[in-house]
Order: sequence, then structure tokens, then C-alpha cells
Amino acid sequence: MSQASRVLLATGLTGAIGQAVVELIHPSWHIIGIRRSPVNVKEPVEWVQADLRDPVQMAEKVQTALHQLNVRHIAGVVHLAGVVYSDIATNSTSSEWEQMMNVNLRSAFELVKIAKPLLCSSASIVFVSSVDALMASALGPAAVYGASKAGLEGLMRHLAAEWGEDGIRVNTVMVGALFEGMGVADSEESESIRENISLGRLGRAREIAPAIRFLLEDEQSSYITGHTLRVDGGLNLRY
Ligand SMILES: NC(=O)c1ccc[n+]([C@@H]2O[C@H](COP(=O)([O-])OP(=O)(O)OC[C@H]3O[C@@H](n4cnc5c(N)ncnc54)[C@H](OP(=O)(O)O)[C@@H]3O)[C@@H](O)[C@H]2O)c1
Repeated sequence: MSQASRVLLATGLTGAIGQAVVELIHPSWHIIGIRRSPVNVKEPVEWVQADLRDPVQMAEKVQTALHQLNVRHIAGVVHLAGVVYSDIATNSTSSEWEQMMNVNLRSAFELVKIAKPLLCSSASIVFVSSVDALMASALGPAAVYGASKAGLEGLMRHLAAEWGEDGIRVNTVMVGALFEGMGVADSEESESIRENISLGRLGRAREIAPAIRFLLEDEQSSYITGHTLRVDGGLNLRY
């Protein structure tokens, strides 16, 4: 274990936003990350290899790892992992439904259930959702993805209500359209949504990471729970 006394358990750290989060919070947190790809780099994250498409097996692997690493207390949990298959609703297959629900939503639930007995009294849980939880995007239909993110928003509010008396805060960062990660690559597509963004541009992963850190750090957000922090550059503010 590193010198940092606060343990963070997180998914999705190999992605665009995840890498920005690691850069921002290391070395003040001891980070335990769950990743699907084989684990070969140890620092600055202690990796557990697990596939979130099977959330139950993931939870078993994480529990074993926490035991092996002798983790007694967890101060933060971040669920960042996400997957999207964009298609019209009637074309979405049951396998796509299962994968998106498992990675985006059920994994969050299994992860915090595993973490709960170890959470400190001022622990913070942050889920990363999407504006697709609220509305359809001009970039393409994504009903199932949107439903999984809306589920994450609901789960956040219920957990915040249930676990508040234990001093545990639960919030989401709701992300708009980004240049990176699962965001838009195509310039024509980005142009079509740019005009609906008040700041006139797509966001960057490094602009999302500080919002995650803000909700994670008890010193900065100790009285915020059950909240959705939208970081979207002012999407759809005009009509
Ligand atoms: N980028 C955007 O425009 C945007 C917009 C709104 C919301 N968001 C949300 O922000 C979060 C991060 O997005 P991002 O842009 O950083 O995405 P990204 O670069 O595509 O990274 C996705 C992350 O999820 C992990 N993941 C996916 N499937 C997994 C699986 N089966 N098992 C374990 N890990 C899995 C990936 O890990 P591996 O490397 O192991 O595959 C990776 O770390 C997501 O929840 C996404 O829905 C992003």
C-alpha cells in the first residue's frame, strides 16, 4: 500500500475521464482500480482484473482483492466505467441491453454493496452518468444507454437517502458531450451539437475530473449528497 491513507475503489480508470481523475488525485489517494484488460502496470493504481459485464463475478474478485490487500477502510468509490451501443431502440438486442445495464448500472450497485461494510463515516460515492439520462442526443439514438444512466441517477438518490445516517454521501457527475473517450470524434457530428451548447464547444476529460474530485473530497463537499452535478457546458439552455 502507498503512503496515502485514503483508499479509493474505482472502475473506468483506463478511459479518458478515468486517466484525468488519476492524474488529479494521485498521490493523495491510494487507488484500487478495476479494469478488464490484463494488468501489467502497478503504479499509480493497484489493479484488480475483472469484467463488469459479469458484475457478480467482479464483486467476488474485488472482495478477494480487498481481503488480500488488507484494506480495512474505504473513503471513496467512483463508478466511471461505461459502455454505449448507439442504435434505434427497436434494433437494440437483448445482449446489448444486458451488457449496458451490467457495466453501466448493475456494477455500480454490486461495487457499493461490497464496499459498504468498509466505508468510513465520511465516505463519498460518485457515479458518472450522462445527459443521455435526461434526453435523446442529436448524435444518434441510445435509448438503452440512456435508461442505464437514468437508473444510475435513481440508484444514487436512493442510496443517498438510505446511507446518509451513516455519514456516507452519494452523488453523480452528469457529463455532457466530450471530444474524448466515448465522446464524438467526427467533426460534422460535433458541429451539429456544438450549437446547442452554451459555451459553444465540446468538453474535455480534464474538465470533468475536477467535478469528480470535488464530490469525492469531504473537505470540499461534506454537506452535498443526493445531488447531480451537471458538467455539460450549458447544454440546451436556449429554445
Ligand atoms: N466521453 C463522453 O463524451 C461521455 C459523455 C457522457 C458520459 N460519459 C460517461 O463517462 C464515463 C467515462 O467515459 P469515457 O469517455 O472516459 O469512456 P472511455 O474512454 O470509453 O472509457 C470507458 C471505461 O469503461 C471501462 N469499461 C468498459 N467496459 C468495461 C467492462 N466490461 N469491464 C470493465 N471495465 C469496462 C473501460 O475499461 P477497459 O479499458 O478495461 O475497457 C474504460 O476504463 C462513462 O460512464 C460514460 O458513460 C462520457
